[in-house]
Amino acid sequence: MQPGKLYGIGIGPGDPRYLTLRAAEILRAADVIFTVISRNASSSISRSVVESQNPRGEIRQLTFSMSRNPEERTNQLRTNAETIMVELRQGRDCVFATLGDTMTYSTFGYVLEIIRTEMPQVPIEIVPGVTSFATLAAKAQCVLVENDEELRVIPSFRSEMAEKLTFPPKSTTVLLKTYRSRKALLERLKKEENISILYGEQLSMDGEFISNDPGAIACRPEEYLSLIMVRKT
Ligand SMILES: C[S@@+](CC[C@H](N)C(=O)[O-])C[C@H]1O[C@@H](n2cnc3c(N)ncnc32)[C@H](O)[C@@H]1O
Repeated sequence: MQPGKLYGIGIGPGDPRYLTLRAAEILRAADVIFTVISRNASSSISRSVVESQNPRGEIRQLTFSMSRNPEERTNQLRTNAETIMVELRQGRDCVFATLGDTMTYSTFGYVLEIIRTEMPQVPIEIVPGVTSFATLAAKAQCVLVENDEELRVIPSFRSEMAEKLTFPPKSTTVLLKTYRSRKALLERLKKEENISILYGEQLSMDGEFISNDPGAIACRPEEYLSLIMVRKT
């Protein structure tokens, strides 16, 4: 039997209107759509974006271990990849849906590697999605980068990184997952000159909040779906 096709789909920041036409088309037609369960709200958001397209296929949720034990993480990853491969072997087209972009800090990258190695005959299509930082720049009407400026993305900012972090001139630094370390970051930024700060929370969703005021940003509650952009001239 011909295996099914694997799709990696970026579903954008949360508002289904940011889905690309190709992503929407695939979500409606696939046999099985996998979304990722996490300890934060992003799992139910992924599911609601998928459901907005009235998919005919089954929606299934995968849990990825956040354990510090690498063996546990690898085992969970292999189990999830195997769950998808069981469907592919039966000729079913499968979607792996990622919030934001598919190939930007997504578990899809790991799943892809396993499936590509174990089932090299599986056809694959990857559809990019609108990233959280592209959304923040657009919503705030602030340039992300231009001319010869550099764009840097720090995927998981932790408080202990604060003192080591540098902000080169003519650069924009995007800091994802700052919800637990925001205070340390804001303290660090007090020492920096010629910067502008932009904060975005629950972008494109009902609770959206955007601010460039460090005082207001410091008062925000812990929110997984939040990021900070620092532009230095
Ligand atoms: C694992 S990363 C995923 C990045 C995602 N693949 C992308 O393309 O933006 C999760 C982080 O992305 C950011 N994020 C994703 N969606 C967001 C949204 N709608 N509003 C604010 N931040 C968001 C947050 O910093 C969150 O902690």
